[in-house]
Amino acid sequence: MCGIVGYVGDQDALPILVRGLKRLEYRGYDSAGVALVAPAGVALAKSQGKVSILETRLNLLPDSTPCGIAHTRWATHGAPTDENAHPHSDCSGQIAVVHNGIVENYADLRQELIAKGHHFISETDSEVIPHLLEEYGGTEDLLTAAQKTELRLQGAYAFLAVAAGQPDLVVAVRRASPLIIGLGERANYIASDFSAFLDDTHRALILENGDMAAVSARAVQVWDAAGDAVEREPLVINWDIRQAERGGYAHFMLKEIMEQPEAWADCLLGRIQGDGIQVESMGLLSENLTRWRRVQIVAAGTAYHAGLVGKALIENLAGIPVDVDVASEFRYRHPLLFPETLVLAVSQSGETADTLASLYLAKEQGFPTYAITNSVGSTLAREADAAGYTYAGPEIAVASTKAYTTQILMLSLLALALAAARGRARPDLVRQLALLPALGEEWLEESESLRDHAERLAKSDQMFYIGRGIDYAVAMEGQLKMKEISYIHAEAYPAGELKHGTLALITSGVPVVAIATQPDLAIKLWSNVAEVKARGASIYGVIDHSQRRAWGEDAITEVRSPSPFLAPVLAAMPLQLLAYWAAVARGEDVDKPRNLAKSVTVE
Ligand code: AGP
Repeated sequence: MCGIVGYVGDQDALPILVRGLKRLEYRGYDSAGVALVAPAGVALAKSQGKVSILETRLNLLPDSTPCGIAHTRWATHGAPTDENAHPHSDCSGQIAVVHNGIVENYADLRQELIAKGHHFISETDSEVIPHLLEEYGGTEDLLTAAQKTELRLQGAYAFLAVAAGQPDLVVAVRRASPLIIGLGERANYIASDFSAFLDDTHRALILENGDMAAVSARAVQVWDAAGDAVEREPLVINWDIRQAERGGYAHFMLKEIMEQPEAWADCLLGRIQGDGIQVESMGLLSENLTRWRRVQIVAAGTAYHAGLVGKALIENLAGIPVDVDVASEFRYRHPLLFPETLVLAVSQSGETADTLASLYLAKEQGFPTYAITNSVGSTLAREADAAGYTYAGPEIAVASTKAYTTQILMLSLLALALAAARGRARPDLVRQLALLPALGEEWLEESESLRDHAERLAKSDQMFYIGRGIDYAVAMEGQLKMKEISYIHAEAYPAGELKHGTLALITSGVPVVAIATQPDLAIKLWSNVAEVKARGASIYGVIDHSQRRAWGEDAITEVRSPSPFLAPVLAAMPLQLLAYWAAVARGEDVDKPRNLAKSVTVE
């Protein structure tokens, strides 16, 4: 939710900042802007829309400026306009600020500052920050002004500030929203996510909640929430920046779909030992597995859908009751958790505000917490008692694909480990898990045939996804993928529920994607398919090969799952590709769907 970048060093800041913005564009693309600390003042360029539009406006900025900040926005307060684009300035134009998150008390602060004679240009909450900095003498001493400003702000946010006359300083403040400092040679970088600076350095320190940092070309000083100087241990980021590039694919989403088998292999690496699960490699202690008597999963969006699959797996394999909540509901529903409940937060980014808040709630109540995340060093990973990484590599497309299937793999591993700890070991499934990368590769080789089906779907303005049991959870994810990138209205239903109302919407030609990977529910599902067919629906069956005979022409593709429990991982891919090709056929911006952002750090 908004990406912020800063640079101070002995090179020209502008190209470094623009490159960083492009890497962070997945966090929002409503507007973009840059501020450079030039000798005569702070020079700004900003524009509504994507970074590519901003690039057409950069020619008036001064050359060879070694310090600056930049921003790519996901609008919260104020429409996506030039005026509301960051960086924002004070009245003198000597201070510039980029901000991610929400200043909750901005309305009061704005009133107060206007009464003191400050002039506001935008409708944003963010603009109070440069004016407060000005009020507290930031044009002379930015760091002290930032310390005073920080005390006035409420909410969850991160901001960077620069001031004319202080050309070797970027002040960075982190309160909840992520902020990472990349440590370079005679240069330092600041960003919401380390992909912004991985071309230049893999050494980084992660600011803790409440930290403030003074970053110059040759030094980084950090103070904690109490104002005490602290040392934050640098870590080395192992991601290869080439993973964050498109590598010949038309879209990141397609690349990320196609690289799933490799991501699955990375996720499983070292976690299967013979017929058993190596739980320590998942960040867990085996002695804890028998302590937990229930599991509460919290997550948002796609990660929530992975959680639904996880529930089916853990309940069926380990015999442990599992609840799954959308994090934004969990945090406010005053949950009544049983003792000995493991609270499991699932999040690709590890920075989703509601998921983090749910984790904090569980911690406050004394429950053990475990995070499944793709982001090493993320807030979720650091705040949970234990973390297991999906190792899917950077996921850049807003629509989650490989993160989702690796989350399901982690949940499968957890389910099997919990099952074994309760005397219900399933060595057959453990062995079959290891087959999934090869089966995924095999299916992808034939996947092009789905394109025609997707192009037919692309002509519809509404569609339905149905399934039973674990297939219903998979259907939920299928419909989300379709909605978010193709903008076709899609809804998922438990197949048996349609006749309780929704069947009224099934008319001639309405597409129904039916997921059929569970042999024990096959007959029941088929009856529901017959009901919609009788009303003229066009069926798009995504089935397991074991169902082939019953489905005939109604199946558009089949996966070869070694077990019904492992089918969701494979069945996800056709659903992702259907959505992808439908969105391409409709000419939509697949990687950057409207109104969305990759990392939702506001509630
Ligand atoms: C789905 O394609 C979206 N990207 C979205 O639903 C996402 O899964 C959700 O915002 C949660 O993100 P997280 O996994 O980073 O917490």
